[in-house]
Amino acid sequence: MYLGLDLGTSGLKALLIDDTQAVVAEATAALSVSRPHSGWSEQLPCDWLKATEEAMAALAAQTDLSAVKAIGLSGQMHGATLLDAAHEVLRPCILWNDTRAAAEAAAMDADPAFRNLTGNIVFPGFTAPKLAWVKAHEPEVFAKTALVLLPKDYLRLWLTGQAVAEMSDAAGTSWLDSGARDWSDSLLAATDLSRDHMPRLVEGSQVSGTLRDSLAEAWGLPKGIPVAGGGGDNAASGIGMGVVQAGDGFVSLGTSGVLFAACDAYAPDPATAVHTFCHALPETWHQMGVILSATDSLNWFAQACGTDAATLTSGLGPVQAPGRTVFLPYLGGERTPHNDAAIRGAFARIDHSADRDAMTRAVLEGVAFAVRDCFDALTATGTKLERLTAVGGGARSEYWVQTIATLLGLPIDLPVAGDFGGAFGAARLGMMAETGQGASLATRPPIARSIDPLPDLADAFDEAHGTYRATYTALKGLDT
Ligand code: XUL
Repeated sequence: MYLGLDLGTSGLKALLIDDTQAVVAEATAALSVSRPHSGWSEQLPCDWLKATEEAMAALAAQTDLSAVKAIGLSGQMHGATLLDAAHEVLRPCILWNDTRAAAEAAAMDADPAFRNLTGNIVFPGFTAPKLAWVKAHEPEVFAKTALVLLPKDYLRLWLTGQAVAEMSDAAGTSWLDSGARDWSDSLLAATDLSRDHMPRLVEGSQVSGTLRDSLAEAWGLPKGIPVAGGGGDNAASGIGMGVVQAGDGFVSLGTSGVLFAACDAYAPDPATAVHTFCHALPETWHQMGVILSATDSLNWFAQACGTDAATLTSGLGPVQAPGRTVFLPYLGGERTPHNDAAIRGAFARIDHSADRDAMTRAVLEGVAFAVRDCFDALTATGTKLERLTAVGGGARSEYWVQTIATLLGLPIDLPVAGDFGGAFGAARLGMMAETGQGASLATRPPIARSIDPLPDLADAFDEAHGTYRATYTALKGLDT
């Protein structure tokens, strides 16, 4: 058996697969986000450890874990977890969807070395500008910082005692030379840091360390089992869904929304807001468009209505032509395609007919338009997407998935019941590290059914996407 741990934004998932990769058991523990100011987003690293303890206790209560052979990790990307020389946490982790470092990101991005070496714009949510923000606003914390870890790598430090990162997540720091798959000394120096502040690098399918004896005893796991490098949550999901070859992709509707495409070579386009990162297997890369608030938008609206997302979407019926109301899902700014930390969300063009269902449809459509923006950005770089699989909590809404299929003109596959996302991909990476097998283990999941685009509504959705873009242009600047 193999264990995958996925440290998400809204919860930690522990998932167990057997030697045939069938899911044996899973458990989750919820996490919440603290937002002390607009655009800020933080979590306490100690809460990640508590959530892991909780999920592992629940898993151990369901299943005997003594046959687990390896562990793999997946996690929310880009977070800055700052530790002192004694490995004590110095401040709350600044998360991927925190845009406070917009000015620092713009200043770094003005230095062409960052785009040239990393293959990406320096986005405010990436790790390096956050360190520049800490240096400017919390100099005493910066002075004590001895080690910078991504969220799942902090979990790894606790699990194994080893400070190790892997390529797919490291590519989102703005310090990795993504083509060479190594830290860039010059980019680190530009942030007044050095290789000494960084963890050692491995590939996602390599062993990064072994589980500490005390945790093995507490959870009933064999002593000394390997922990694989794993992947950033999107790369790990790619491994989970067998998205490793050019033409393959997935759409993820989680807290963030992601359109992910596997690539056959390293081909960045840093003039655009398309992300190009290392994949979780050696010598592979991927591209993606990232939106900051996908299910986050729906959950926000559900909360504002005093209900939950499932209740809001349950009565919508079949997909309708888009209504008049437009929703912009930019609750905390946006990455692809705008790279705009100041823009905020909006409902526009509301009239008396805009009841709760109409507003809910507008929210789903708004996120779907944002995914279409990512699709346009990715295909403009020459990336081809032939078929997509859907993943994440939002993929449970057929209305949402079919709206996206129609806007993209592509069928979207829904895997059979089960979760083939980050935790499953992490477990697979654990299996790869332990067995020495690679991409051959990353097969595509069995597909329950395929959601086809609705050709009769394609023109109406295209036109509504134009209105959405015009609404963005009209509202842009309001918050700057
Ligand atoms: C990717 C990104 C998000 C987080 C969410 O660049 O920021 O998808 O990884 O977990």
